[in-house]
Amino acid sequence: MKVKTLFYCTECGNTTPKWQGKCPACGAWNTIVEQPAERVSSKSSLASRRITEPGIRMHQPKAMHEVETTDELRFCTGMGELDRVLGGGAVKGSLVLVGGAPGIGKSTLMLQICDNLCRFATVLYVSGEESERQIKLRAERLKVRGEGLYLLAETNLENLVDAVHTLKPDVLIVDSIQTMYNGDVNSAPGSISQVKECTMTLMQLAKGENLTVFVIGHVNKEGSIAGPKVLEHMVDCVLYFEGERHMAYRILRAAKNRFGTTNEIGVFEMEDGGLVEVPNPSEALLAGRPADAPGTCVTCVMEGARPVLAEIQALVVPSSLGNPRRVSNGFDYGRSMLLLAVLEKRGGLLIGGCDAYLNVIGGLYLDEPAADLATVLSMASSFRDRPVPNDLAAIGEVGLTGELRAVSALGQRLAEVRRLGFQKCLIPKRTQGKLIVPEGLELIRVSNIREALSILL
Ligand SMILES: Nc1ncnc2c1ncn2[C@@H]1O[C@H](COP(=O)(O)OP(=O)(O)OP(=O)(O)O)[C@@H](O)[C@H]1O
Ligand SMILES: [Mg+2]
Repeated sequence: MKVKTLFYCTECGNTTPKWQGKCPACGAWNTIVEQPAERVSSKSSLASRRITEPGIRMHQPKAMHEVETTDELRFCTGMGELDRVLGGGAVKGSLVLVGGAPGIGKSTLMLQICDNLCRFATVLYVSGEESERQIKLRAERLKVRGEGLYLLAETNLENLVDAVHTLKPDVLIVDSIQTMYNGDVNSAPGSISQVKECTMTLMQLAKGENLTVFVIGHVNKEGSIAGPKVLEHMVDCVLYFEGERHMAYRILRAAKNRFGTTNEIGVFEMEDGGLVEVPNPSEALLAGRPADAPGTCVTCVMEGARPVLAEIQALVVPSSLGNPRRVSNGFDYGRSMLLLAVLEKRGGLLIGGCDAYLNVIGGLYLDEPAADLATVLSMASSFRDRPVPNDLAAIGEVGLTGELRAVSALGQRLAEVRRLGFQKCLIPKRTQGKLIVPEGLELIRVSNIREALSILL
C-alpha cells in the first residue's frame, strides 16, 4: 500500500499538497496539519462493500410507483419538542445528525428518547465515549426503561455494522461520529476522512435496512459540526443543540431537514432528572427581559439558515464629557455610529451630546442589517425614556436617508417571531416576494424611521 502525505486545514477541511502557515481557503492561521493520504489501498471501502451485500440492494433502480410509503413512515420519539423539530416525528430510514457543545446534553437527549422508543422498537445505543456501565448509570438517573434497549461500547465501525446486522434494531444511536473509525482509512478517528467515511457507511445502513439512525457530532470552536461541510450535505437532518453557559435552557434547532421545515425550534430545560420540555419557549428564551422598560427591542436575525431572536438594549444618557462615550457590545461599532447619526439627522432626535451604550443580550454578535431597525428603536426608546411595547419585534434595514429596506427570509423570521409569542412586528413597507404572515401576528409596515418613531414612541 502506498502512503503519500497530504496537508489539510482543521478548520475548513481544505486539502493542500504542501504545508502553509495560512489556509488559502478560509484564511485561518496555523490550522494546516499533516495527514497521510486517505486510503490508497486496493481494498474496497467498508461503505462500498456494504452496498453490494445481499439484502441491501441500493444499486437497483425502482419504479416510483413501486416504492412503498406506508402510514408508519414517521414515529414519535416521545419528546414533543424533538418531534416538532424533526417535522412531526422521526422518519424511518433517515439519518439525523445532532451536534452541540461539550456537556450541553446530547447524550442525555438521545438516552431519554430511548425510554419511549423501547416500548415499540429495538434500540441499539453505540457509544465510543462511555462504557456500558456509565450509560446504564445515566439511564437509571434519567429513569429510562431498559427493555428493548441494547448498549454497545465500541469505536470500530465494522463491529458496529456487524452488531446491527446481528441485532437488527429499528433505531441506532451513535455517540459520537468523531470517535468511530473505519480500519480501511489510514487516519485517526475524528479526522475529516474518517468522519466522512463513517457517516457514509451509516447512511447506507439507514437506507438499506430502513433503520433510523441518530448520530451525535462534536462541534468546532465556531459552533458547526466538526468535520467536513460535506457531512451536513450527506445526512437527512442536521440538528443543533445549543444553550447559554449560564442558563439551564437548551434550544434544539434544525439547520437542515429533508422531511420538514427548518423553522421550528425545540426548547428544553436541563434539570437533575434530565431534560424537561419547555412548553412556552418565548417566556423561557426572553426570560429576564424587563417589562415596560425603555431602551430594549427584540429583532430576528438569520444565523446561517436559522432564524434567531435577539434582544438589543441601549442606554442613551446626557454626557458629562466633551467627547461623548460610545460603546457597542455584540454589534458592529461602525454600524452603530452610522445608525446614531441617521437617528439624529433623519429621526430628529438630538443625541449628539449623549453617551450611547449598546448591548446585545445573550452573547450574540449581530452582523446583519435586519437588526438596524430594532437598534434604532432601542436607542430612541432610551433617549425618550418611553418603552417599546413588550409584544413587538422589529425587523428591517435602515438606509442613510432613514428609509427602511426589505430584508431576506422575512417569512421565516416572522414565523420565528410568532412562534416565540410576539403579537406585533414592525417591518419595512416594501417586502421581497410573496409574504406568508403567521396567524396571530399583526404586521405594522413603515417606510422610514420617522414613521416608526411616531407610531411607537
Ligand atoms: N448527576 C447529574 N445531575 C444533574 N445533572 C447532571 C448530572 N450529570 C450530568 N448532568 C447534566 O448533564 C450535562 C451533560 O450531559 P451529556 O453528558 O448528555 O452532555 P453531552 O452533550 O453528551 O456531552 P459530551 O459532549 O461530553 O458527550 C451536564 O452538563 C449537566 O448539566
Ligand atoms: Mg455525550
